[in-house]
Amino acid sequence: MHDIIKARTERTRWFSDARFGMFIHWGLYAIPARGEWVRSVERISNEDYQPYFAEFNPTRFDPKAWARLAKEAGMRYAVLTAKHHDGFCLFDSALTDYKATNTPAGRDLVREFLDAFRAEGLKVGLYYSLLDWHHPDYPHYGDRNHPMRDDPACGNGNRDFNRYLDYLHGQVRELLTNYGKLDIIWFDFSYDDMAGETWRATDLVRMARTLQPGIIIDNRLESGGESYGSIVTSSPTYYSGDFASPEQMVPPAGMTDENGDPIPWEACMTLNDHWGYCAADHHYKDARMVVRNLVECVSKNGNLLLNVGPDAKGEIPEESVKILKEVGRWMAKNGESVYGCGGSGLPKPDWGRFTCKGNTLYAHVMEENVNAYLLDLLPEQVEKVRLLANGAEMSLSRPWNAVTIKDKSFFTFWGQSFPLPDETDTVVQLTLK
Ligand code: GLC
Repeated sequence: MHDIIKARTERTRWFSDARFGMFIHWGLYAIPARGEWVRSVERISNEDYQPYFAEFNPTRFDPKAWARLAKEAGMRYAVLTAKHHDGFCLFDSALTDYKATNTPAGRDLVREFLDAFRAEGLKVGLYYSLLDWHHPDYPHYGDRNHPMRDDPACGNGNRDFNRYLDYLHGQVRELLTNYGKLDIIWFDFSYDDMAGETWRATDLVRMARTLQPGIIIDNRLESGGESYGSIVTSSPTYYSGDFASPEQMVPPAGMTDENGDPIPWEACMTLNDHWGYCAADHHYKDARMVVRNLVECVSKNGNLLLNVGPDAKGEIPEESVKILKEVGRWMAKNGESVYGCGGSGLPKPDWGRFTCKGNTLYAHVMEENVNAYLLDLLPEQVEKVRLLANGAEMSLSRPWNAVTIKDKSFFTFWGQSFPLPDETDTVVQLTLK
């Protein structure tokens, strides 16, 4: 096996077992409350964005409550935006004044996040935006995304991109040096020719691997959320990353490289339709949809990084809290079919999905059937069957009307096929021989 792939497989072992994480998008944009792209979408100048900096005072910021919620939801890791595209830093960087410690918040919010989540036993990661709409040396006029992209007065004549790169590398060094062991660094994102060595990616990754030997790095030094970079090829670059990061979608057949070898991947998804807090967006996925999305990811060997966008006061929106607690109730009884699990190799059944761990197959029943549930397994392959949530024995006998289907297994819910015991996802645990 290619050395890069071998090292990646080793590093990502805990990550692929964890399967479920919390993404947290939080920054000044929580005040305008129209999502984290507000500066770009509305072409807001630095000056017009400055009042939010002067005002930022999240008096109800309680990272311990965030961490407890993540844990209760069954999440095993979390990733916080240390800096998003607007350039505002939640951490106390020595390289800029544009940071939380200089706002009324007056604290290093990254440090408090890390302490709180580690205390709950969760793995921790930081998101760092490669784009920076505040830094004077980042391209303005003519850039694809910059708030000042259409303003010829913001030409790039005096801008020195190398100076920006020194800043970017310096800040990443701060994050990887001053905050103890980090499990993930999540760079975001590359576009057009702003990719790979344009970020001095080899140096950046070499630094990360030196300062934090075990750290897991995403693939966005080469790509955005819609493409994957060289991680999907048979010759990934040194900075191709440890996992692919499909955004707002689950890849139809999971992810493999050109040789058909599996690639670690993590679908990142919003809970409503925005990453950063958006006061008017109440279009939330319900707990059932979240669970089913998570199970879909696992059935295709992937992770789900589910986002919350705390508000300007520092609180995770109530709707999100409610959904995550409900997800947590399902996870408390059925998490065994998620953690450390992956795809089964069996085709997707009509009524749901399969996940698998060793010789245990988990049948995730999401749709009622009129009769017994048919498995594409020989009867002698299945040793026993239990309802995962309560350990109750279920029947493996072939129904009377299926006498002609001799070479298949069946399970039934004590003769009744509806309603299902758990309409979110009823998990049937099958021990295989
Ligand atoms: C996109 C967006 C960004 C978000 C990220 C999460 O790249 O630019 O706002 O942080 O996706 O995956």
